[in-house]
Amino acid sequence: MTRKNLKNRQWVLSSRPQGMVSKDNFEFRESELDELKENQMLLKNLYFGFDPTQRGWLNDMKSYMPPVQIGEVMRSSTISQVIESNIPDFIEGDIVQGSFGWQEFAITDGKAGFMNASKIPDNIPPTASLSVYGVTGLTAYFGLLDVGEPKEGETVVISGAAGATGSVAGQIAKIKGCRVIGIAGGTKKCNWLTEEANFDAAIDYKSADLTETLRELCPNGIDLVFDNVGGEFLDTALTLINMNARIVLCGAISTYNNESPAPGPSNYMSLVIMRAKMEGFIVLDYLDRFPEAISSLSNWVEEGKITYLEDIQEGIENAPDTLVRLFTGQNFGKQLLKISDPD
Ligand SMILES: NC(=O)c1ccc[n+]([C@@H]2O[C@H](COP(=O)([O-])OP(=O)(O)OC[C@H]3O[C@@H](n4cnc5c(N)ncnc54)[C@H](OP(=O)(O)O)[C@@H]3O)[C@@H](O)[C@H]2O)c1
Repeated sequence: MTRKNLKNRQWVLSSRPQGMVSKDNFEFRESELDELKENQMLLKNLYFGFDPTQRGWLNDMKSYMPPVQIGEVMRSSTISQVIESNIPDFIEGDIVQGSFGWQEFAITDGKAGFMNASKIPDNIPPTASLSVYGVTGLTAYFGLLDVGEPKEGETVVISGAAGATGSVAGQIAKIKGCRVIGIAGGTKKCNWLTEEANFDAAIDYKSADLTETLRELCPNGIDLVFDNVGGEFLDTALTLINMNARIVLCGAISTYNNESPAPGPSNYMSLVIMRAKMEGFIVLDYLDRFPEAISSLSNWVEEGKITYLEDIQEGIENAPDTLVRLFTGQNFGKQLLKISDPD
């Protein structure tokens, strides 16, 4: 590919969502590509990665990252190919991961958003760098092991269990000898958890009585909760925790599109009575330990102890609708969008 006459199609934020995010909050525009300067490279985006946290970046409020500004290209993780490079560390043809946003091309010095450009090793499928070895797999690893501290024989309950993060967290808990119960939406996801992902049991929260079923499946209580969902689930789980339980606050996707703040967990006194610990974390705080986690995760994948799914949609024009899939439960596995084939 030569860069002559290349146009860049991009999705920019056009308004801040009130309630559920939608395509109407973004504008699809075409722009010219600038000339490459010294220490810059031209990337062609091959895939976008989708994360529920992107919804939070659309709110004009203090968070662990600044909000995306109106008129700015939507921030996202990406897999890209180097088309031209004035940076010695990158050469034409390299496949890199980074965070270069919802656009076909990016001109960059390699530093961006929450993830600088880095080459994807040849021995892993490129998309795995955004799924099992990407933010979601790493979040499962550090959240479950470092924050949750699972012990053999304990009962672990995971919400959002069939998702990219939850499914890996549950399988790591199984590797550590725990009994693992997953909560997910729909029979297909629940069957996958017990038949493919080695969970001991799964509850379809859309059809079952969550409180009753969880009580039946956890007759000796819950030692570790890995919560991706928040809201009612967290309240229910708190009523069943054991002495010295750990509640890992990974996320609260059921609240991300709320128009007003969600009410706090009404059963929080269980934490006092059970001398339990409820702790949040952000995976980016573990950056220096990512190599350790990737090495363990890849061993477990090779040994068949961790399986993972990727849900790959196609076409840059579908980027906003693909983000919405995370909040409607349409995604089954790590949500990705294919933009282009490599040259
Ligand atoms: N702390 C960190 O550093 C960190 C890093 C990455 C991700 N996270 C958090 O991890 C969680 C999972 O993220 P992911 O990227 O792995 O996404 P994911 O689980 O692959 O996809 C999101 C899933 O959430 C479920 N969901 C959506 N709306 C829901 C609702 N109202 N009630 C219950 N479940 C709902 C859906 O599954 P069902 O079909 O089963 O409903 C959907 O498939 C999110 O809370 C995210 O913010 C935290």
